[in-house]
Amino acid sequence: MNELRYDLYYIPVSLKKFRPDSLVNFNLYMKVKNRLVLYRDKNIVITGKDIENLKANGVESLYIKKEDRKKYREYLEKNLEGILKNPEVELSVKATYLYESAVNVVEDIFKHPKRGEIIKRSKKIVNHTVDFILSGPDAFVNLLQIRAHDYYTFTHSVNVCTFAIALGNKISAFDDKTLRELGVGALLHDLGKSMVDSKIINKPSKLTPAEWEEMKKHPKYGVMLAKESGLVSEQSMLIIGQHHEKYNGTGYPKGLKGKQISLFGRIGTIVDVFDAITTTRSYSKAKEPIEAAKFMLEHKEGFDEKLLFSFIELITVK
Ligand SMILES: [Fe+2]
Repeated sequence: MNELRYDLYYIPVSLKKFRPDSLVNFNLYMKVKNRLVLYRDKNIVITGKDIENLKANGVESLYIKKEDRKKYREYLEKNLEGILKNPEVELSVKATYLYESAVNVVEDIFKHPKRGEIIKRSKKIVNHTVDFILSGPDAFVNLLQIRAHDYYTFTHSVNVCTFAIALGNKISAFDDKTLRELGVGALLHDLGKSMVDSKIINKPSKLTPAEWEEMKKHPKYGVMLAKESGLVSEQSMLIIGQHHEKYNGTGYPKGLKGKQISLFGRIGTIVDVFDAITTTRSYSKAKEPIEAAKFMLEHKEGFDEKLLFSFIELITVK
């Protein structure tokens, strides 16, 4: 197998991502003379000594099959708390654990939008994300760096959550509890898409007027699901229901205008648009953050201007 071929089927995982003495339930491969060979069968504990031996032999990464990516994310979520608490683990590794765990939760919630236990997991992830972002400015920068640049509903939800918490924190408008409610709403903002036909969601070409009408219902569907769960606060629901409202009244589903849109909703619109245009989609190339900021300023009538300036400061000032 040459290098190009295995890149299609395998993903490299840095050794730093493995927690000593943790059970790994997917096969691990290693590169030997430009070939990938099985290093470990699944369901074997990887010990600290294994990791040291690999390092001593110059191995920096192991490989997993692409189809095991979900299992890999589950592994990270399972080990998340231990990693976040460990002062010896570097920030970038913590950020990866957090990001991939959050993607895992969102994937599950889209599959089973009515399962309360997954909403509870999403609240837990948001709590970790808030704690992480509040731990210092480098934490957010690390999360930004590992952000996925291709648009997928799951990663988009995590990106929106990260941006919303960081913006909410920057404007100092919320107490701790409210900031966490903002995060939960942001993570679940597109939950209603789970009720829209996947043919519409994944359609690579332009939607027909009827399809577009259906798509525009996802904020309402999302609020409905959140209400039904009995686990999401009214505050959090504001961002689910209002993240497509526009400051000048041209948004949906209600066409609310200005301060009729809650602060949560106004934050939601900004971070949602920003993430959408800075990630690659089937019909458009990703814009660089600076370009995206310019674009949003050119269309600033759709956003709360003061908030938009704060957001641009957040993503452009390093
Ligand atoms: Fe949306």
